[in-house]
Amino acid sequence: MDITLIGAPLDCGKTRAGCLMGPDAYRVAGIAETLRGLGHGVTDFGNVDPGQDWTMEGPDHLVHPGAVAAWTDALMRRGREIGGMPIFLGGDHALALGSVAGMAARAADRGRDLFVIWLDAHSDFHTPLTTDSGNLHGTPVAYFTGQDGFAGFPDLPHPVDLANICMMGLRSVDPGERDRLAATQARLHDMRGIDETGFAPPLRDFLAQVAAAGDVDLHVSLDVDFLDPSIAPAVGTTVPAGATFREAHLVMEMLSESGLVTSLDLVELNPALDERGRTARLMVELTASLLGKRVFDRPTRSFG
Ligand code: ARG
Ligand code: MN
Ligand code: MN
Ligand code: MN
Repeated sequence: MDITLIGAPLDCGKTRAGCLMGPDAYRVAGIAETLRGLGHGVTDFGNVDPGQDWTMEGPDHLVHPGAVAAWTDALMRRGREIGGMPIFLGGDHALALGSVAGMAARAADRGRDLFVIWLDAHSDFHTPLTTDSGNLHGTPVAYFTGQDGFAGFPDLPHPVDLANICMMGLRSVDPGERDRLAATQARLHDMRGIDETGFAPPLRDFLAQVAAAGDVDLHVSLDVDFLDPSIAPAVGTTVPAGATFREAHLVMEMLSESGLVTSLDLVELNPALDERGRTARLMVELTASLLGKRVFDRPTRSFG
């Protein structure tokens, strides 16, 4: 696999600072060396420069909308032209307005559809019109699926179909998101459901849907708060009862064995809250599982 690391040190999706240190924390934790050790070619593109903040109008309580718009535009353009497998090193989850929109455009340029697996405690389906907090890291899924309310943000070249999205790990969804999301065809797996079935059956099901769709791309968006706070403390929005170490590795290994994944976000790491780089290292280890690290070699599995 030809992997490109794209640093996206954006910290504008909320008020608490720290995620701008994320890309370097992953570099210090050895992400490039780890992936090279698995036999991949790895290029570190460095950090994207978003340029000037855009001038925005809109609800007053929005946090840094002009900076989010500039990042969205820059990451969308950068992502669209990249070959191989991009890994977006965040940065908070507002980076996914641009990364996923860019991946959808890149897929469409090649005549393909994009599927997305959203690993997060939160559904991030607010729009600028529904968010109470004003934090735009709570809005990427609404943006890249083309919901109303993003006037003044960059035009979306190719919306992702909500029926192509699978969310896992949900345990903090605001009422304003829940009802709109429940009315869509997105696959929604909260931790209550996962507690009954485990991750494997619904994930196998989704991967079968993706495989059956033919030549498609699959983007993985991994928010640190998908994980249980006891193993991943370095995030501003911890929510109890997240994925365990074993569950998270299983999800990554199944994604890897599917052979379907074409791009990845690593988001919401706040190194100022970390315990000596522990969360950064865990995120790197999970990325290694996604990219082929195994105890024993297993063949690529068919999920068809
Ligand atoms: N739903 C809450 C909000 O809108 C939390 C969003 C958290 N999102 C995240 N990417 N951590 O503020
Ligand atoms: Mn998120
Ligand atoms: Mn399409
Ligand atoms: Mn989250």
